[in-house]
Amino acid sequence: MSPTVHFTIDGQPCQAKPGDKILQAARDNGIFIPTLCDYEGVKPVGSCRLCTVRVNGRLLTACTTPVAEGMEVENDNAEMNDLRKAVIELLFVEGNHFCPACEKSGNCELQALAYKYQMMVPRFPYQFNPREVDASHPNLIHDRNRCILCKRCVRLVLDEKGRQAFTFNKRGNKVTVVVDKELGAKMTPELAQYAAHICPVGAILPKPSGFETPIGERRFDKKPIGLDNAKIDTHA
Ligand code: FES
Repeated sequence: MSPTVHFTIDGQPCQAKPGDKILQAARDNGIFIPTLCDYEGVKPVGSCRLCTVRVNGRLLTACTTPVAEGMEVENDNAEMNDLRKAVIELLFVEGNHFCPACEKSGNCELQALAYKYQMMVPRFPYQFNPREVDASHPNLIHDRNRCILCKRCVRLVLDEKGRQAFTFNKRGNKVTVVVDKELGAKMTPELAQYAAHICPVGAILPKPSGFETPIGERRFDKKPIGLDNAKIDTHA
């Protein structure tokens, strides 16, 4: 097998290691592909569909599709960007995202991507689904109004024995993320902070304090998402 795979993204020649996924290869070649569920260090699950690209004519998720020799990837064009905008709009109408009152405003990847793709009024009707807020745990608040079911918390927030503190509950359009009662009660402030950090939206917030950094001085207030390829700027 050749040690290097040659392919193009939007006509730009790129190289990657065999087995690399398109998303990682794009980053390594200085190209931004938007994501919400992907997170460095865990296996991609392809749940948000925001990284969708057109590969040799087919729509595929960049986070789960390996590069191949001669592959032609279409990423940053009107069709792909409108598709991404539609996904973002769907997330906004399906959840209850009240950005001006959200502690994560300015640090929220969904909000930052909505700005990037210039979302105005969503083309889909708002659902206003009733969602619960679970503030019963000593070190974190779980606000399901803002959850986008990216599964990052399920995959990444583990206790010292590797047990998942967050899990999916129910199925289909009833699916929701819940916090394990026992592990939620025992969760350290550090793990709660980490959970809030990896949550791309404001669904997980650490107790006891909030709004320590004023709105206007937060991560995406200073540098809009996708402006450069700083090793996935969503993870800063
Ligand atoms: Fe690829 Fe979410 S980042 S589907």
